[in-house]
Amino acid sequence: MKVVVGITGGIAAYKAPELVRLLKKAGHEVRCAATGHALQFVTRVTLETVSQNPLYSDLFASGSTEHISLKDWGDMLVVAPATANIIGKAASGIADDALSTLILAFSGKPVVMAPAMNSLMWSHPAVQHNIATLKGWGIRMVGPAEGELACGVNGIGRMAEPEEIAETVLSSFHQPLSTQKWLVTTGPTYERIDSVRFIGNYSSGKMGFALAQALADAGAEVELVSGPTSLAINHPRVTLTRVESAREMYTAATTIFPNCKGAILSAAVADYRPSECADHKLKKKGDEGMTLTLVQNPDILASLGSTKTQEQTLVGFALETDHELENAHGKLQRKNLDYIVMNSLRDKGAGFGVDTNKVTIISRDGHHIESPLLSKQEVAKMIVETVTH
Ligand code: CTP
Repeated sequence: MKVVVGITGGIAAYKAPELVRLLKKAGHEVRCAATGHALQFVTRVTLETVSQNPLYSDLFASGSTEHISLKDWGDMLVVAPATANIIGKAASGIADDALSTLILAFSGKPVVMAPAMNSLMWSHPAVQHNIATLKGWGIRMVGPAEGELACGVNGIGRMAEPEEIAETVLSSFHQPLSTQKWLVTTGPTYERIDSVRFIGNYSSGKMGFALAQALADAGAEVELVSGPTSLAINHPRVTLTRVESAREMYTAATTIFPNCKGAILSAAVADYRPSECADHKLKKKGDEGMTLTLVQNPDILASLGSTKTQEQTLVGFALETDHELENAHGKLQRKNLDYIVMNSLRDKGAGFGVDTNKVTIISRDGHHIESPLLSKQEVAKMIVETVTH
């Protein structure tokens, strides 16, 4: 998930980097937005380093619509610490700097605030009125509890600890797959000809990495088995196994699948491999040409289809050029799948190497839903929602 952490100018701002670290550790992407006063307490460099993203603090630094793109990017906004000032602005609809403008723009998406202020300020009716207003609009407050503040330690209304704020954020994300394990295959396979050459294909692996991320975001443990790609993934619930050939992918997938709730096989597996692999570099043969004998690789998807149980869900991919729906549905039946995700090579912006995709998801009973042209991340989310209902 993507979390925007908003930081305002209270002494507790020094705890914001720890909150960012905890959210990142739990597998979330974080971007920070800070007020000018916040940057008196915690530096831009610290926030950019822990979040690994640029800081948003100036309404006009990169055009005047950054607050809208940040709102579109984020799944949630957490303001920690939230001073009496930002709480008052948010309750009154005032947008006079980067963060207050972002809070207004975040309307309709979840917002959490962790107030931090002097206990006398906290108990002022104006602040309590503003807090009640924000709660009424669905904004969640995390500590300090009203009761605690009346006897605030050393007169200071302390901000909730970063662990508690992180827990509130994490628990509010809907994670319907949190007890499930899923297998995803992705990337091309390389089939060796000799010690320096192989047969391969142009698959980038992007679709499968996006699927692994979407499954993990929904709470699943993910076993991602990838052929050679330059991609990496950093999520505590994703285990990446790198393989080279179809046979290696077959071994990994068939070992992992029995313990899974389901599998999505998006890899572009080579159907054939050279019958022999020379252990040295083959010399050219000149005019007489060269013939490679190919033998068939195991079909990983069909093999999982033949062993799958009633409780397991199996999803395959199909790349079709003609009679698309008919061919894809035939493939679904032959390989005993629950769903097949079809890419049509006729669609511009779909398929290998590009960042977008357009798919049709076909279910066993013949129903199909078509996606518009979306980013591979959005397509992945749609596939995961459909096949896990
Ligand atoms: N697949 C697999 N193992 C193989 C070949 C394919 O697991 N040895 C999987 C792919 O990951 C994908 C689906 O099967 O999910 C694609 O099926 P395939 O029958 O290879 O379809 P196409 O590539 O569309 O090829 P064709 O129509 O030529 O059969």
